[in-house]
Amino acid sequence: MSHTRALGTCYYPEHWPEEIWEQDAARMVAAGISWVRIGEFAWSRLEAVPGKLTWDWLDRAVDTLGAAGLKVIMGTPTATPPRWMLDRHPDMLAVDAEGRPRGFGSRRHYCFSHAGYRAEAVRITRLMGARYGRNPHVQAWQTDNEYGCHDTVISYSPAARAAFRNWLAQRYQSPDALNRAWATVFWSRDYDSFDAVDLPNLTVTEPAPAHVMDFRRFCSDQVVAFNRAKVDALRTLTDAPLLHNYMGRILEFDHFAMGADLDIATWDSYPIGFLSDRIDAPAEHKRTYLRQGDPDFQAFHHDLYRAVARRAPAGADAPRWWVMEQQPGPVNWAPYNPAPLPGMARLWAHEAYAHGAEVVAYFRWRQAPFAQEQMHAGLLRPDSSPAPGLAECTQVASELAMMGPADAGRSPVAIVYDYPSQWAWETQPQGADFDWFALVFDLYRGLRTLGQSVDFVAPDADLSSYALVLCPGTFNIGETLKTQLASRTGPVLLGPRTGTRTETFEIPVPLPPQVPGLETTIALTESLPPDAPMPLQEGGAMIRWFEHLEGPADTLEATESGQPALVCSGNLHYLAGWPDTEALSRILRRLLDTAGLDSLPMPDGLRLRETPTHRVWINYSQQSHEIDGITVPPIDAVWQTKS
Ligand code: GAL
Repeated sequence: MSHTRALGTCYYPEHWPEEIWEQDAARMVAAGISWVRIGEFAWSRLEAVPGKLTWDWLDRAVDTLGAAGLKVIMGTPTATPPRWMLDRHPDMLAVDAEGRPRGFGSRRHYCFSHAGYRAEAVRITRLMGARYGRNPHVQAWQTDNEYGCHDTVISYSPAARAAFRNWLAQRYQSPDALNRAWATVFWSRDYDSFDAVDLPNLTVTEPAPAHVMDFRRFCSDQVVAFNRAKVDALRTLTDAPLLHNYMGRILEFDHFAMGADLDIATWDSYPIGFLSDRIDAPAEHKRTYLRQGDPDFQAFHHDLYRAVARRAPAGADAPRWWVMEQQPGPVNWAPYNPAPLPGMARLWAHEAYAHGAEVVAYFRWRQAPFAQEQMHAGLLRPDSSPAPGLAECTQVASELAMMGPADAGRSPVAIVYDYPSQWAWETQPQGADFDWFALVFDLYRGLRTLGQSVDFVAPDADLSSYALVLCPGTFNIGETLKTQLASRTGPVLLGPRTGTRTETFEIPVPLPPQVPGLETTIALTESLPPDAPMPLQEGGAMIRWFEHLEGPADTLEATESGQPALVCSGNLHYLAGWPDTEALSRILRRLLDTAGLDSLPMPDGLRLRETPTHRVWINYSQQSHEIDGITVPPIDAVWQTKS
């Protein structure tokens, strides 16, 4: 069963006089909105005094919104523990790498490992579930808010240290096993008990990579476990779907592991904030897309979070994923906050639907004239008159019907997405600008500029339906993935850095990548400063990274000095470095061709997304583009029905 497309918004009844709730609800409905998220930061107004719950205002808010015909997404407010919580649990705060606790006065002020706080989070979640779990207006539940935002996954608190020791004891069973895994013979680091192990901060020089990597795995597990505790509390109290709103470029926890516990994946899309805050791109690119956002960054996350949703619930036909927060106008949190071009609030929604979104919800309904986000636009201005986003939202509502059901289908190209690889290469970058996310993003952008629709897949996903599979920078290829890659007949692109470490962060011997059938070995690795690219014979260059390959695999691309840059043994390809845009485009065209897929080079700012029913052309540029017999106007989407 595919789900119907819909619009939503984020509303904070506690911010506004009760007299205007009904009118707000009616205006939402008039704008074509059917979902409304509330409650996710309201803890201090629900429980001003520990144990004394004040539900009446929230009861009335749910009733008012529901009576207007809106479906409520109930947020559980654990991202904002009230001030009294710190009196109860003075040691609940996360601690930064310098050993400083992170203070009260904003949000996300808790450590995922603090058992006392986790119990409080479960308690309030359970109380809310008991109150609203069977309320017919509450049709979805959000756990917490944006896990990981504001750098909150990694904490060096005493609670984290105690929990890490337990985690290690379970993983290794004996200090000897840990000593072997962490190669403690190096620099006399042997441990005789798990209680002697500290967190890997404040060391004199770098801690051992296996130690850091285990800490990163542990941190990810703690976030997943925290969420699971909340999910377990809610499951018995409601049948409504459970979801979380992920954020862009948050890499500190494994979203696939969390996604398996939830029914819907959602994420928060702030294209213009991201362009200035989270994307490494030349200044000219940022100028061109100043008021649109990067043409690939949103799509990347749509595809990623669709993959995160794919596994849950087990047996579902199409994955359910939404945009829970969509930028409607300028945000407040990036270094600079330009206004979107007219039409962008609409185009971003179209793009999300083209990638399979079921719901796009604008953040927020009304701009708050107070507190931290007073400069953040809403669909309404602070005086309740319409902001530009409202008309665009209303227009999208009138366009939903022609988009067909929320089903992204399957793409012919897959990129294996492996969160631990990000942690591994942060642990040991070897080159100052080697960043796994940036590598994957470059490949994704390269594919999209050749007209491809792309799926991300978890490392243990079934790859058999894909014509082309890319596995970039995967630090440790597990046996399942290795077997799948080796048994494919269609082309596979590995590298750079793929398979170059064991689970315990050692260089494997025999030397990597050791994929059966791929007759190449990485003999030596070098990283390159920005002003020292290695030109390739056919044009373009390798930048940042270069591996010296040995072995009988065929050389398809070489550096000007004759070193192999891309090799293959049959369908298995290995890329020895990080190609610049020109080299990457050529290499990808070759692979697409081998896979029997047509490359369709895209003009600036134009992208194509294929769904089972449509070819959707999305134009982020201010020029109109003629392509494949159709015209795509500037800042617009064209849904071309497939014959
Ligand atoms: C999101 C967050 C919202 C709001 C918004 C502002 O990251 O979930 O609560 O802060 O940013 O853009």
